[in-house]
Amino acid sequence: MCIELVLLRAADRLHPWHPERDFEFTNCGDQAMNGFPEERNAAIAAARQRDHFERVHQKYAAHYYDKWSLLYRSEFILAPLFEGIDLEGRLVADLACGNGHNSLLLRSRFPTASTVGFDISPTACAAYEQVVGRPAYCVDLLDSEMRHSKFDAALVIGGLHHMVADISSALRTIHSMLRPGGILMMFEPNARFVLQWARDIWYQSDPMFDAQSEAALDHDTLLRATDGRFRCERLRYLGGPAFYLVLNSAVLRLPLRAKALLSRPLFVLERLHGRLRPRWCHSSFVARWIAQ
Ligand SMILES: C[S@@+](CC[C@H](N)C(=O)[O-])C[C@H]1O[C@@H](n2cnc3c(N)ncnc32)[C@H](O)[C@@H]1O
Repeated sequence: MCIELVLLRAADRLHPWHPERDFEFTNCGDQAMNGFPEERNAAIAAARQRDHFERVHQKYAAHYYDKWSLLYRSEFILAPLFEGIDLEGRLVADLACGNGHNSLLLRSRFPTASTVGFDISPTACAAYEQVVGRPAYCVDLLDSEMRHSKFDAALVIGGLHHMVADISSALRTIHSMLRPGGILMMFEPNARFVLQWARDIWYQSDPMFDAQSEAALDHDTLLRATDGRFRCERLRYLGGPAFYLVLNSAVLRLPLRAKALLSRPLFVLERLHGRLRPRWCHSSFVARWIAQ
């Protein structure tokens, strides 16, 4: 059996742990390549995602982590996820972490929280360590299981919809990382959006996406795929004009300079759009789940 042991490089002062014993993933890596067809497909999809993100990393970072996208994340994504919870002193896994700016925003809200990054892309993990100053581990979340649940919370921002090749495994992995009662916070594209058909066409034709290994998600179907491992505590639909033109400026090829002019009025429209109730009006959702 393939066993990959991941060692933490530095013990965290708030959360002393024993890396050899506590931070161990099983079933990682190439084993699935020799396994059942569905495991092989998931491994191929994960490899596609890794290669895809290695390829688009620079362009992604320029548009998704600029000042205006970070303001979007802070107000429209993270504020509703953090509302009413206290992560001070808590240990939080940033899953599919990218460059780590969500961890930084989390730390600006909860300065004594500790974060650890996980991503399939080595470039993203290296960037995470540089940007956040915390460890990041190169892990395929489709094909790993943590032996000892350690984390008080996990954050996954735009990550799960890259794991549709085997979403149940990804959710099992995440569940294995959380202690009972731990919180999973997510932001994902909403498959029930009225313009989903247009998004599907776009995913197929735009090299910023890998349509074979990513897809928008229906929240209720996603929750059912956990087989009762989580219960939903909070669900909000969001995502209007600023979602496309500010956060996803790379997709619409909006120059970064134009964002400086457009972002403030778009944020006003986004707040108004946020008042619409039907889920088909919204491109995305945020959800907070509790591990059972
Ligand atoms: C859209 S980016 C989101 C990055 C970051 N969370 C953010 O908010 O900008 C998706 C991330 O998921 C990662 N990813 C895709 N498939 C993965 C897998 N199977 N396991 C771990 N990470 C994965 C990619 O490498 C990429 O960094």
